[in-house]
Amino acid sequence: MTIMQKPSYKEAKTRDKREYQKVFFHISDDKKNLFKGKTYYLKTYGCQMNEHDSENIVAILEQLGFRSALNYEEADFVLLNTCSIRENAHNKAFGLLGRLKHLKETKKDLIVGICGCMAQEEGVIQEILNKYQWVNFVFGTHNIYRLPDLLIENKTSHTQQIEVFSREQDLVEDMPVKRENKYKAYVNIIYGCDKFCTYCIVPYTRGKQRSREKEDILKEIEELKKENYQEVTLLGQNVNAYGKDLYADYKMENLLEDVAKTNIPRIRFITSHPWDFTDQMVEVMRKYPNIMPAIHLPVQSGSNRILKLMGRRYTKEQYLELFHKLKTIPNMAISTDIIVGFPGESEDDFNETLDLCHTCQFDNAFTFIYSPRENTPAAKLPDTIPLEEKERRLQRLNQIVNQYFKEKNEQLLEKEVEVLVEGISDKKNNYFGYTNTNKLINFTGKNIKIGSIVKVKVTEAKTWSLDGKID
Ligand code: SAH
Ligand code: SF4
Ligand code: F3S
Repeated sequence: MTIMQKPSYKEAKTRDKREYQKVFFHISDDKKNLFKGKTYYLKTYGCQMNEHDSENIVAILEQLGFRSALNYEEADFVLLNTCSIRENAHNKAFGLLGRLKHLKETKKDLIVGICGCMAQEEGVIQEILNKYQWVNFVFGTHNIYRLPDLLIENKTSHTQQIEVFSREQDLVEDMPVKRENKYKAYVNIIYGCDKFCTYCIVPYTRGKQRSREKEDILKEIEELKKENYQEVTLLGQNVNAYGKDLYADYKMENLLEDVAKTNIPRIRFITSHPWDFTDQMVEVMRKYPNIMPAIHLPVQSGSNRILKLMGRRYTKEQYLELFHKLKTIPNMAISTDIIVGFPGESEDDFNETLDLCHTCQFDNAFTFIYSPRENTPAAKLPDTIPLEEKERRLQRLNQIVNQYFKEKNEQLLEKEVEVLVEGISDKKNNYFGYTNTNKLINFTGKNIKIGSIVKVKVTEAKTWSLDGKID
């Protein structure tokens, strides 16, 4: 067995002022089509960052000659792009690994690879070394560009390869990409996270905050425009920190304005940490109608005591001030993330979260039970709340937030909303798309062009979606 490089949290935690080399991805001609006739199945877990990494991985695999398989049973190569954010993301990936083990017993040539955030975890790598020696190779979030070489080395070596860099290396540009959607595109603007919220594993799995050069971002968006893309989502764990590590006086508000000036019809950005959301950003959003009135603004808790323990660096009052500022932009929809059952969360703390939800009436909310993550500071706090109590809190919270989603949707009844038409839904003659506030809408109409932006009248409001029609 060859272990090439195992991850170390100690190194992953290091933050310094190192400058990053920009390198360009390239597959040499002798490697292209080396795997012609072979098929792959890629399973992606986790957030948009992982989804977009998978769009790069698919493009690399296809340059190597792979074609996609319909399911993992039929594939010659199965790759799991994993997520570490909560225990259940882990369990899902290990569940699929269990099924793959059986498959590999009868299909000896099957190649199985693991990448993504779980590959950056010390404990996961130890488990793979102990119990999953049949997995062919593992690579991390910092060396996706090494995939062609890892596959080629695996062809000849027949030993397990583990190549996980604990720290970010270079900034790789010109990665090939095969986008899932023909009208909406993800564009990375910043990698990593330096916030170190006490419950979160991402700063260890994704490394230091590194902004892409603005010219590279704008060039990518200009190209997308030429390909008729209607919408870009600027991606990062904390997009609002854009530029801080790279420029003296070019920040997220400047990038946002430059992206708006490309005149691409729709611009979104995720995720925004409230701490870095500046007044200038709010003003740029107000000024440019192609920046969509929808912001994902995770609050995590409504209790200042818990926010402090979480290391979120804002108080409930500061969050609300920003929230109300954003709401001065017409039709602004705000969604959030909330964690219940953080260590030591009392009934009073939890009630403060419920109060905040009544005040904010979020358009959407992703709610989670706290899940202790290896090596994070919160995992060392005494966690005395029984699981049943955490589940009860989650249910109570969901009941309240769901009610507001429906109310928010009902406010749109009989109104016209602007929709990017994405396709035909299952039902006969029904189209579907997303409003500028990012709400799913199914609607009827005749000869509507997919990929166009149209006005739709809302006829029915549900909790999770709208129905509408074009007369
Ligand atoms: N960078 C984003 C969040 C990315 S993770 C931000 O800071 O806003 C998405 C969400 O997962 C977080 O907002 C948080 O609500 C949740 N989350 C992260 N770590 C978690 C944990 N250990 N247990 C439960 N939920 C967690
Ligand atoms: Fe995690 Fe906090 Fe960074 Fe978001 S900002 S990725 S929650 S550490
Ligand atoms: Fe999961 Fe990694 Fe994203 S932990 S949420 S895939 S950054």
